[in-house]
Amino acid sequence: MVSRTIPVGPFDLVVFGGTGDLARKKILPALFKRFCSGQMPAPSRLIGAARKNLDNKSYRDFVRQALCEFVDEAACDATAIDAFCKEIQYISLDAGGPQGWDLLVALLNDDKVRAFYFAVGPGLFSDLSLRLHQHGLVNEYTRIVIEKPFGHNLVSARELNKNLAKYFGEQQIYRIDHYLGKETVQNLMAVRFGNMLFEPLWNAQYIDHIQITVAETIGVAGRGDYYENAGAMRDMIQNHLMQLLCLIAMEPPSIFEPDAVRDEKLKVIRALDAVQPHHIVRGQYTQADGFASYRDDVENPRSKTESFVALKCHLNNWRWAGTPFYLRTGKRLSERDSEITVVFKDTPHSIFGAEAGRHHNELTIQLQPNEGITLNVTIKEPGPGGMRLIDVPLDMSFAEALGPAADTPDAYERLIMDVIRGNQTLFMRNDEVEAAWAWTDPIINGWEVRGDVPKPYDAFSSGPDDAALLMSRDGNSWRGLKN
Ligand code: BG6
Repeated sequence: MVSRTIPVGPFDLVVFGGTGDLARKKILPALFKRFCSGQMPAPSRLIGAARKNLDNKSYRDFVRQALCEFVDEAACDATAIDAFCKEIQYISLDAGGPQGWDLLVALLNDDKVRAFYFAVGPGLFSDLSLRLHQHGLVNEYTRIVIEKPFGHNLVSARELNKNLAKYFGEQQIYRIDHYLGKETVQNLMAVRFGNMLFEPLWNAQYIDHIQITVAETIGVAGRGDYYENAGAMRDMIQNHLMQLLCLIAMEPPSIFEPDAVRDEKLKVIRALDAVQPHHIVRGQYTQADGFASYRDDVENPRSKTESFVALKCHLNNWRWAGTPFYLRTGKRLSERDSEITVVFKDTPHSIFGAEAGRHHNELTIQLQPNEGITLNVTIKEPGPGGMRLIDVPLDMSFAEALGPAADTPDAYERLIMDVIRGNQTLFMRNDEVEAAWAWTDPIINGWEVRGDVPKPYDAFSSGPDDAALLMSRDGNSWRGLKN
């Protein structure tokens, strides 16, 4: 199978926060890999910008180190790294003050795409935007890239969007939700809209319920300050799980283009019903052998922040009325497992009699790890003695089916290149972000008003017992994730 990449023209990528964690772990390795695939044509440049007083040589040494640490050994070729480093420059610059900006202006003196990656805390987004504007760095070739959190609630998200809109058109703003850059997440759209098989059945008439799980084994150590103010609701549900829900539930856009796709996603978020307090379970992990509890990780013995959320929600529209969506995410769970299961309804009548039992189909889309799709179908149990039915998986592991072509680029490689190409399909629009907060805020405010305390759960389990209850009350059970 030949892999096809769409060529890009020369560009400058300026990374504010060029010496930070996001640059080291994600942006630099991603750009290096694209460089190796010939997607950084001369005279493209990577310009690192940060407060640290470094010269080009010491920044290039920093980049080399980051690549050795975060790029697979096989891809880490010394000659390629040398060639990549030649395209790198560094400017010592103060986001909130005058230092360094004239140098940046002097460097960016031509008419090619210039993308400014705000790999800094959200507190600096507005300052950086203002400075870019004041120094005349915003023109038709300018794009900015920002990372979540896009606000802490609806009010702050609106404020942020308003501040950005003072200096940039919406078509220049790329809000990254890295889940949208994942190959298998995009596959959701391919599976739904590239096959005739599923779409006619993709509605409340045939689908009993849909489950979305994003489980992690890691805790929050090292990010305690951020996480304690966010919790799983703001950190994962408001964005990543919401995006997965949108892709699973949206109407087919007429064309795979940015606003057509984002219009449909927005309609899903706006159709979400308010979540009933008894349809949501919060949890907090306790300590396990050699692993600190959540409260120890964030150094707050009275923390009421959740490291786990499970909830049931409904969409108020014709396609989905009556079909519950169950969402679950958490840290320090039994395994790293992200999957979506579409549970179809039982067959309406069994011609094989009561003994054969009632059966239904299930479609599981495994997002990570071990990307693949499984469709459970009902067949006759082999052997004599009557018509007994069993459910067996039609399994497709992408790695097995596609071989080396299944080695897909990291989400950041795809997303950075989409910024350069000017394709916003996989980025969140201002109204999507605001709509997601408008749905999330009342849930979080309700917890605050009621003084809700998350339920403790054993580290490396499947979460609090109440999460299982949320399902069993409806006669359902969670798929995936061992107990
Ligand atoms: C980030 C969250 O957005 O996504 C983290 O802030 C989380 O808390 C991470 O661990 C999960 O991403 P992935 O790609 O590892 O599933």
